[in-house]
Amino acid sequence: MALRILGRKNLIPTFSGGLGSGHLRGLQTFSLPDLAYDYGALEPVINAEIMQLHHQKHHQAYITNYNKALEQLHEAINKGHTSTVVKLQSAIKFNGGGHINHSIFWNNLAPIHEGGGEPPKGSLGWAIDSQFGSLEALIQRVNAEGAALQGSGWVWLALDKELKKLSVETTANQDPLVTKGSSLVPLLGIDVWEHAYYLQYKNVRPDYLKNIWKVINWKYAGEIFAKEAPLVESR
Ligand SMILES: [Fe+2]
Repeated sequence: MALRILGRKNLIPTFSGGLGSGHLRGLQTFSLPDLAYDYGALEPVINAEIMQLHHQKHHQAYITNYNKALEQLHEAINKGHTSTVVKLQSAIKFNGGGHINHSIFWNNLAPIHEGGGEPPKGSLGWAIDSQFGSLEALIQRVNAEGAALQGSGWVWLALDKELKKLSVETTANQDPLVTKGSSLVPLLGIDVWEHAYYLQYKNVRPDYLKNIWKVINWKYAGEIFAKEAPLVESR
């Protein structure tokens, strides 16, 4: 039962497509989701080399290690090795989180000629203006929190379904947003690990954060928001 829950494809109910999956001896495993655009399609904001390494090496490594940990967990449960089950939780959180986060991240980006950077419309645009004052004010807030995050992690625009409001959050390492609260739905997640920008921006994370908004796929975030926040939308 635990395995079925851990390996469920719909770990992120709002995520549409991309969580590739397969089966290994009855255990659900995961595979690298395709990107909806070419590696070079986000240039000059994010270059092709970063995108290719990020997707093919980094994201793939999280998936490989997540699958391995799930297999070990399956074996440990079958053998009744409780200490091994407990020991594996860290690898499952880190690598499973890496898979969840990157799968969201790729959807949060779009080439400029396909609408990347176009401001959010509809209910999300309204909610941002209403809560933060303007899109620019929200961007400044996200950039400030992303730049201040120590070490590696993620900065998020979330919908808090319980409070029915937007929220800017950060998570450390590969912790997925759900670790900050079960009512938080990720609308937009920005990877601030050095592997996401160092080859192009070196140590200047603020420049990466400043530029990434030119390729943010607000349409995707707006669709998640409209689906998850009907009460907010109708107010
Ligand atoms: Fe990353």
